[in-house]
Amino acid sequence: MRTETGQVIRLGDYRPSDYLIDKTDLVFRLDPTRTRVTAKLQMRRRAGVAPGTPLTLDGDGLTFVGARIDGADAGDNAVSATADALVVNAPPASETFTLEIETVVDPTANTQLMGLYRTGGNYCTQCEAEGFRRITYFLDRPDVLSVYTVRIEADRKDVPLLLSNGNPVEQGDLDDGRHYAVWRDPHPKPSYLFALFAGNLGVVEDEFTTASGRLVTLKIYVEHGKEPRAAYAMDALKRSMRWDEERFGLEYDLDIFQIVAVSDFNMGAMENKGLNIFNDKYVLADPRTATDQDYASIEAIIAHEYFHNWTGNRITCRDWFQLCLKEGLTVYRDQEFSADMRSRPVKRIGDVRLLRAHQFPEDSGPLAHPVRPRTYREINNFYTATVYEKGAEIVRMLRTLLGAKGFAAGMDLYFQRHDGEAATIEQFLACFAEAAQTDLTQFALWYDQPGTPNLAITTRYDRTARTFAVTVNQSLKPPVAGTPNAPMVIPIAFALAGKNGSTLDHDAVSGARTMQHEGEDGVLVITEPKHEIVFTGIAEEPVLSVLRGFSAPVTRVPQAPTRDRFFLARHDSDPFSRWEALNSLAMEDLIKATRAVSAGDPAAASDALVDIFSAVAGDGTFDNAYRALCLTLPAETDIAREIGRDIDPDAINKARRGVTEHLAKACERVFARIYHELQPRNAYDPGAEGAGRRALRNVALTMLCHAARSTDLAEQALAEADNMTDRAHALMVLTHLAPESEAAAQALEAFRTAFRAEPIVLDKWFTIQATVPRAETVETVQALTKAPGFSWDNPNRLRSLIGAFATGNPVAFNRADGKGYELLCAAIGRIDAKNPQVAARLMTAMRAWRNLEPGRRQRAKTAIESLRRGDRVSRDLADIIDRTLA
Ligand code: PHE
Ligand code: ZN
Repeated sequence: MRTETGQVIRLGDYRPSDYLIDKTDLVFRLDPTRTRVTAKLQMRRRAGVAPGTPLTLDGDGLTFVGARIDGADAGDNAVSATADALVVNAPPASETFTLEIETVVDPTANTQLMGLYRTGGNYCTQCEAEGFRRITYFLDRPDVLSVYTVRIEADRKDVPLLLSNGNPVEQGDLDDGRHYAVWRDPHPKPSYLFALFAGNLGVVEDEFTTASGRLVTLKIYVEHGKEPRAAYAMDALKRSMRWDEERFGLEYDLDIFQIVAVSDFNMGAMENKGLNIFNDKYVLADPRTATDQDYASIEAIIAHEYFHNWTGNRITCRDWFQLCLKEGLTVYRDQEFSADMRSRPVKRIGDVRLLRAHQFPEDSGPLAHPVRPRTYREINNFYTATVYEKGAEIVRMLRTLLGAKGFAAGMDLYFQRHDGEAATIEQFLACFAEAAQTDLTQFALWYDQPGTPNLAITTRYDRTARTFAVTVNQSLKPPVAGTPNAPMVIPIAFALAGKNGSTLDHDAVSGARTMQHEGEDGVLVITEPKHEIVFTGIAEEPVLSVLRGFSAPVTRVPQAPTRDRFFLARHDSDPFSRWEALNSLAMEDLIKATRAVSAGDPAAASDALVDIFSAVAGDGTFDNAYRALCLTLPAETDIAREIGRDIDPDAINKARRGVTEHLAKACERVFARIYHELQPRNAYDPGAEGAGRRALRNVALTMLCHAARSTDLAEQALAEADNMTDRAHALMVLTHLAPESEAAAQALEAFRTAFRAEPIVLDKWFTIQATVPRAETVETVQALTKAPGFSWDNPNRLRSLIGAFATGNPVAFNRADGKGYELLCAAIGRIDAKNPQVAARLMTAMRAWRNLEPGRRQRAKTAIESLRRGDRVSRDLADIIDRTLA
């Protein structure tokens, strides 16, 4: 484990490597504990570098066996090897030479799941970001692109499947019951995209013909017996391939595309060239075991990894500071794909909720960083909501500013100009500036300035002059002392809504640049701290609808006047903004209710909210999924974020429960009607339509249980459920509303028995119990760490129990006696010894400790500090803790 903590990597220090690696020939002789790796590297000295300049290759925990230079054994004077580096002291003076290196690695001892490791008895690799150096010494940086040929040898019986990137070239038998396979990837790639998988799995096979007529074999490998559960992933893959051709003109570029599902994986999935490796929870689905949410995630992640083939692989990143170049752009692409496959407004609302729940708090707390960071101690800690989700918002803003045509021209230029290269954000932006003939200098601040800008907007209508004045002030509070906060470019998609919501025309606008792309909303382009914008020729007093479709990742404080928001919640022609108005009104009531609870008063919803809530509930013209979103109150964590300081999670919980009951009782008849009308009639179909019906019906179920203060209906729903969506939801309602009931205990036991052999389903069982909102859950979670099926080694299990407890259960996690913090920190200490990446990620759950009320704040701090004092804290974890406490 790497425990050193001092070294900081800086963007400003970037310089190209002295040497390049044109070709990489790898041989793996697989063995559970002693795998021998030989790497034959075709080295080339970069032009301008002095002959004989020493060459340092990266390593991490490697056992060095030997090296040869141009075919001759390299003696101790020629190379010096440690576990973490190999230095060739005086490389040949020739421009090119070969360097052969032999190392030994122990995949069984690799509990970090980085490099070559064992999972389910198979061999698997994970190299992003810096895992390749745990396999062999290399220039392990994304700007060194090499053509790989890989030969794998292993026992034929135990390890029938031998996979790597690219196309298969050869396979055959060896002596002693072993066999081999050779793979060659013709596309130069950085080491982080290398992959190897070897083992014994079942396969689902299909094919795809690209637009230009290339026949591509598609294979998805899953555990034997689970092949039918890969059908949805395969379908999503084919739809992704078609979509990327149609929307971006991008085709697949090898004869085969393979996906392997493994059960031990630190992240969601990995885009290795031609050989994606997936956390199996994002591949396997059938109605019995997967929820609608699971299906949607599978579709999105299959697409995401596939889309990386162009945005990430064909064009990769110059250095890890440019991570958002591939991630932000690819998230934008997968969001657009899902929007096209399902409901665009529903997808957008979901994405904005996610952004607010994860990215906004990150961007306003101690872990805030620019979308393109300038320094890091541990790159693993920068796979964040800021890099991914805010990165995607920046691309979306470009699209809004440039319009469909300008954006497409910029993307085309990017692919044409940088294909085969390792690029930077500057190069990416230059393509749009050039193609759309616009200056993006100020826009580029989005990549460099951390923090969420705020807009303060006021309006004034002058009836006699028929003008409508809009004042916009932007401000950016530096989240970390000393970070820059120059004014940004903020695209505000807008409409002036007349009496019934229809958009009013105007003659002219002054005070800000505006854009009007064909078929799109008008956009006000904010560039200054303050704009006084005047619309002329406005026939009646309008209501201003702004940030339509959430056109920029900003906050708006203060909110629009309550009266305007009630109007927009009923009439806004943009479905996102209508939801936004309703959601903000609900939030306002929830905050008021929290104050009431703190003062010892009951929590209630306002009459106006009750009215609009029942109007939406009863409005059959809305799409079901959209209605379900509108009828879901902000979560306790959303309310806490909005309150911001001196947070009392118990008061928030009571308040939300009180408001929910009030609304549920007031709308009970409507919910009862929905519940009965949306009874499933046809066989389960994971598509958007069926998912929407189930989502709305399950909201109704929750509300009816609250209204009746009884879980009878949840019990009945559980008995009737014929799919995991309904089953898991009913079990959650029953367990959360009546945790001490015999019915809940029996239902949990029945669920466990039914799915005892299905780890990814059992994760739901852990999560439901870890999120019961009451103090005693601390002890429940403690006990569950000893339950059959729990494992301290599996990231999915850890996230489903420990992670869900820390991020999805504000009441128990923030228990006033600090036991929740102690539980988390003790668990993290234990996890860190084996898997620093997962430990560091769990630690981010404590980043908001400063916002708590004083008693909890002190207990949280004590728990974090005592974890930091532990004797072996990984670099990953130390980095998060030190920034959290700074
Ligand atoms: N690059 C992966 C993705 O976003 C995420 C990942 C990062 C996976 C690091 C593993 C390790 O698609
Ligand atoms: Zn990605």
